[in-house]
Amino acid sequence: MKTQKAIKERRSIKHFDADHEITAEEIEELLSLAALSPTAFNVQHWRFVVVDDPALRQAIRAQSWDQAQVTDASLLIVLCADLKAWEKQPERYWANADAAVSEFMLPAIKAYYANKSRVQRDEAMRSCGIAAQTIMLAAKAMGYDSCPMDGFDFNRVAQLIRLPQDHIISMFITVGKATEKPWPRPGQLPLDELLIKNRFDPRRPKAQPEVMAAVKAELVTDVVAEAMPEANDGVSAEPVAAVKPKAKPKAKPKAKAKPKAKPKPKAEDEA
Ligand SMILES: Cc1cc2nc3c(=O)[nH]c(=O)nc-3n(C[C@H](O)[C@H](O)[C@H](O)COP(=O)(O)O)c2cc1C
Repeated sequence: MKTQKAIKERRSIKHFDADHEITAEEIEELLSLAALSPTAFNVQHWRFVVVDDPALRQAIRAQSWDQAQVTDASLLIVLCADLKAWEKQPERYWANADAAVSEFMLPAIKAYYANKSRVQRDEAMRSCGIAAQTIMLAAKAMGYDSCPMDGFDFNRVAQLIRLPQDHIISMFITVGKATEKPWPRPGQLPLDELLIKNRFDPRRPKAQPEVMAAVKAELVTDVVAEAMPEANDGVSAEPVAAVKPKAKPKAKPKAKAKPKAKPKPKAEDEA
């Protein structure tokens, strides 16, 4: 299947054939493809929790607004990330690179991630987002449908899958055979609203005060989480208060200080 066709035909499916069984070989193929997704510094921090225990699936469904995909899909992946993968034998991530490259990379990884909980979390979410789309497009090419999901209680699901303290859950990906067509695409924004040429227009309206307050609250939460890790619930590395803000910020806050550019040595591309 052509990539363009897979992209156009992938839809979020709500009803799966509960009797269809995906094979172990298909799961391996899907996850092997997902594992080729890019990650910054190649830290490969995603962890794919495949839930095939029916009782556990039921328990997770009960924490997921009773959404049927959780039990009826052939495959339920709880897409997680290890926030501390960067410090766990990082030489593995550059094992096949030239010595000069890995000698540069290892201290660079440490400098980039150490003591920066926000960076660790942001990178994890970025990587999981990319891996999620890889899984969904690969599934489509393999004759399957899928649904990404975050409609669930993150802390409860973390407990159910015994999520380690230094991991977070990004989302679920369910994969299976659709039994009902998705509803028509609900409304795609025109490209000219999404495409910004070079810079944002300085005349565009400033973000609403309540949006800025939500953004600020999230930033404060991160600072608190860093200073007081015990404020977490003891289950997930995800700070309790850092659950999704009710109103999604429409605009990103201006960065106070320009973050240091990540060193991108030429050799990285060659590795
Ligand atoms: C991060 C994320 C979380 C989502 N959570 C759910 C969910 O919990 N339940 C659900 O039915 N769909 C969920 N969706 C699917 C969206 O509703 C869907 O992607 C959107 O309506 C666009 O439709 P399409 O994927 O068919 O193009 C989620 C999508 C994303 C990206």
